[in-house]
Amino acid sequence: PPGPKGRPVVGNLLAYSRDPLGFLTRCAREYGDVVRLGFPGPPAYLISHPNGVESVLVKNNRNFVRDRYTRAELRILGDGLLVNEGDSWRRQRRLAQPAFHRRRVEAFGETMVAFTERMLDGWRDGETRDVHAEMMRLTLEIVAKTLFDTDISREAEGVGRSMNAIMARSSGQGSSVFLRMLPESLPTPGNLAYRRATRRLDGLIHALVQERRRSGADAGDLLSMLLRAEDEDGEGMSDRQLRDEAMTIILAGHETTAIALSWTWYLLGAHPEAEARLSAELEEVLGGRAPAVEDLPRLRYADAVMKESMRLYPPAWAVGREAIGDCEIGGYRVPKGTQMFISQYVIQRDERFFRDPEAFDPDRWTNGSTEGLPPYAYFPFGGGPRLCIGNGFAKMEALLLLATVARRFRLELVSGRPPVPQPSITLRPRDGIQTGLRER
Ligand code: HEM
Repeated sequence: PPGPKGRPVVGNLLAYSRDPLGFLTRCAREYGDVVRLGFPGPPAYLISHPNGVESVLVKNNRNFVRDRYTRAELRILGDGLLVNEGDSWRRQRRLAQPAFHRRRVEAFGETMVAFTERMLDGWRDGETRDVHAEMMRLTLEIVAKTLFDTDISREAEGVGRSMNAIMARSSGQGSSVFLRMLPESLPTPGNLAYRRATRRLDGLIHALVQERRRSGADAGDLLSMLLRAEDEDGEGMSDRQLRDEAMTIILAGHETTAIALSWTWYLLGAHPEAEARLSAELEEVLGGRAPAVEDLPRLRYADAVMKESMRLYPPAWAVGREAIGDCEIGGYRVPKGTQMFISQYVIQRDERFFRDPEAFDPDRWTNGSTEGLPPYAYFPFGGGPRLCIGNGFAKMEALLLLATVARRFRLELVSGRPPVPQPSITLRPRDGIQTGLRER
């Protein structure tokens, strides 16, 4: 495949590490739908057409496992669903799937709204708050309540800091891509914080698993359901597997949804006309009360706002795969060992699929202009057998939180400058999002 070549050995890697979103976008627009990235090491391809995405994630999915970079960054998840492979992944996915059944997930709706109302009770008119930090804390509390049936509001600060230390190590915040390649065993400040954070979270999860085993696992939380799950041989999950799945769900299940909401608050702050329409819809549908799961089908504009926000700022901005055998994608040979990059950020801003792709336009989801979109032109939750297991949970949570907050507060942007997206495993707003709170 074509691609940027001829730079000093590590030139492309440097360009990538300085600005991953810009580098990948330029590669796709300049060289086409299959690009050889020209990194040192194994061949690396960028796939930027929906057909190619479908080939990798769906049609040829058995020829791919998770890419080596993500595997290394997510070592903390052990054999959790996100990084597991083969028969072990299939077994775990089957065991976990019922816990994410729609009716099960809907039962968490009330908790989500109640926790949000509690957060809002602490907000004051005229105050300035970093709404990204607020969303991270809130979704962490919600995941702890729905997963473990515990209220961690008192520990949330500490757990949040642990999570940050873990993400900082994997995203190499402030350090270069080369520093990140140093072994984890070196006692750098980042590595030490990472190890402390891991121990702390492990201790927390271990205690909860033991407690739940003792108490008989009959609660309605996710952990109890995972504890009760058995495969066809009547085997349940070991403590180790439970730890890995719990860690995975905490990590995969709170930061992404928080980020989706954070970018949404930014976009609404920057587009007062969209904010006004959302507010009018909430007034019309809810008539002054808090939202419930049953209201969601009628919140059509709110749904379009979330969709559009995740198009422009997909919280999981890329998925990666490694080829375990030779194959062909988009007319190019893909040798075994190739690292495949697929970026939602790049494809969801492609003008071949979205008119005026950089514009925030929720109406495109209701006025018919996105009908006939090829599958995998828009795929914030991935696709194929490894589609996000929490996508129903996440969509419901995002809508409920959006409606609960927007009904009571308007959030004004404090800075005139747009937040900077920081692409690590997820797409955080780098410096948070400062907002002025206006009570309605
Ligand atoms: C997988 C995105 C929320 C749990 C994934 C994948 C994506 C994704 C793109 C596929 C990765 C790949 O194929 O390489 C998101 C986004 C979310 C979100 C954008 C929120 C807006 C959640 C929630 C949970 C969750 C709330 C759990 C409560 C998982 C798990 C996997 C996964 C366990 C691995 C599934 C497997 O490989 O079998 N997510 N996710 N996610 N997600 Fe989510």
